[in-house]
Amino acid sequence: MVRTGMSYGNRHAVYAGSMRPATIVITVFAFGLAGLMAQDQPPQIPPELAQYQTWMKAAAGARGAAMKSIQAKNVAAAAASAKTVAENFDLMANFWKSKGKADAQAFSETARDAAKAAAAASTPEEQQAAMQKSGPTCTGCHNIYRDGNNFKGL
Ligand code: HEC
Repeated sequence: MVRTGMSYGNRHAVYAGSMRPATIVITVFAFGLAGLMAQDQPPQIPPELAQYQTWMKAAAGARGAAMKSIQAKNVAAAAASAKTVAENFDLMANFWKSKGKADAQAFSETARDAAKAAAAASTPEEQQAAMQKSGPTCTGCHNIYRDGNNFKGL
């Protein structure tokens, strides 16, 4: 990485000689900074789990929001939240598919389809009935694959 003066022709010897210390200082500074940044990082969460958590949190949060909007009989707001639920469970279904876990994929697809139906429904009652179909998927999947804020059996 650090070039030596040897690779420069004689004509550049003075130039190379004057630049090298600066290059070294910058290199040492860059490595030092990288080291400091590494120390500042929180305990490592595997990227895969971190990604899954953003989906799960988004889905659960949007589901709560959808339920509230259904209670308030705000069909449009409930539909918008239900759409977010569906989108995130779709991403989770793909994740489980890539892991070859057909049962978890099926739970995710059931939750996704329930939210999709809620988003398409036109009355609070229909929305409520549709969202309720996603309920059993939560505990069904958590019992098999969730250990606190972590995966189980992966
Ligand atoms: C296909 C499997 C699956 C389904 C279906 C599922 N979950 Fe999860 N959930 C998990 C796993 C695995 C974790 C642990 C990893 C994590 O914390 O993200 C988890 C974690 C969570 C968390 C904690 C997220 C965090 O890390 O802060 C919440 C909240 C949650 N689920 C809510 C729900 C709700 C509500 C439903 C149903 C609408 C549901 N889940 C359906 C697999 C699932």
